[in-house]
Amino acid sequence: MIQNDLFLKALTNEKVSRPPVWMMRQAGRYLPEFMALKEKYDFFTRCRTPELAAEITVQPIDIVQTDAAILFSDILVVPQAMNIEVEMKPGVGPWLPNPIRSMKDVDQVVVPDIHEELGYVMEAIKLTKQMLDNRVPLIGFAGSPWTILCYAVQGQGSKNFDIAKGFCFSQPEAAHKLLQKITDTTIAYLKEKVKAGVNAVQVFDSWGGMLSPQDYQEFSWYYMNQIVEALAPYTKVIVFGKGCWFALNEMSKSKASALGVDWTCSAKNARYLTGGNITLQGNFDPSRLLSPIPTIKKMVHSMIDDFGVNNYVVNLGHGILPNIPVDHAKAFVDAVKEYHPHNN
Ligand code: CP3
Repeated sequence: MIQNDLFLKALTNEKVSRPPVWMMRQAGRYLPEFMALKEKYDFFTRCRTPELAAEITVQPIDIVQTDAAILFSDILVVPQAMNIEVEMKPGVGPWLPNPIRSMKDVDQVVVPDIHEELGYVMEAIKLTKQMLDNRVPLIGFAGSPWTILCYAVQGQGSKNFDIAKGFCFSQPEAAHKLLQKITDTTIAYLKEKVKAGVNAVQVFDSWGGMLSPQDYQEFSWYYMNQIVEALAPYTKVIVFGKGCWFALNEMSKSKASALGVDWTCSAKNARYLTGGNITLQGNFDPSRLLSPIPTIKKMVHSMIDDFGVNNYVVNLGHGILPNIPVDHAKAFVDAVKEYHPHNN
């Protein structure tokens, strides 16, 4: 039914003529068309207005022509729905005026009715599906419980999320209670997204790499795996842990359909750690899109040589940066479409 189903084929380990390509944060600030809407509407208005969210989601499909769309939204709409106030401060990023710091604070956090609090996301999905008109699949997403806890407790972005880690290590009972509430909300939220029409979901563990391998098991993977188990019967689940190469082996034994890899882990090592067959997604250094276009194309071709054509989704190793020229982003996508084995 979907005209370009390369992405879904890669997630089901089917043979493909070339790997599919999309970019994390592809609906974003490197696109002038996005910046034009950013001038007029604040961040959460863009997230909450289905017409705007759908338009922003489809922009990269029309402009850089990736093989999948990812819904424009944010991982922080989930804590917002859980009675945690979240603002997006221009130039600063996420800002939470009342961060969670005690068991009493955790008790104020609710597991919401998804339709009541996040119905606007489902409306955005339905509208986006209409606008995509079956051209490419649509990806839905959520943050991992650990990554959401990072913001909920720290109160803003951070280089090391020291307050969030301190909270987990000094008040583990409160931390686990919060992580379970986020997990329960996320499972219900992603199930609704599937019902609304997304074709796959990705769980972003952007700050998993802040934890030691042992703490990662306790404070992140234990909860992410609950989400994977709960969603796997309904859709394809992609797990992306930034800086989490140490967990790839464990992840490869889960019900996830694909695992994201960042640029600090080689294709060879990622294949070795995951046993060779599970679909991997990644891992171009986002800053490498600043290289001259011929260099980008050459590097993309050798990246595909390294990961292999099958069981692979071409992506960046993290989100695209705002200072990337649009023609460089387009060259990244074109390089994948022009790929022929050993053509470089
Ligand atoms: O991938 C896509 O194109 C879909 C849109 C998307 C956004 N945020 C839009 C956004 C996705 C998938 C996210 C996920 C997200 N949000 C993550 C996980 C992915 C990652 O990059 O690690 C995280 C950690 C957040 C939290 C967040 N939202 C931060 C830290 C910031 C500010 C810093 C930044 O990168 O801009 C945001 C704001 C945000 N979310 C913007 C966009 C396009 C930029 C601000 C704006 O448009 O006003």
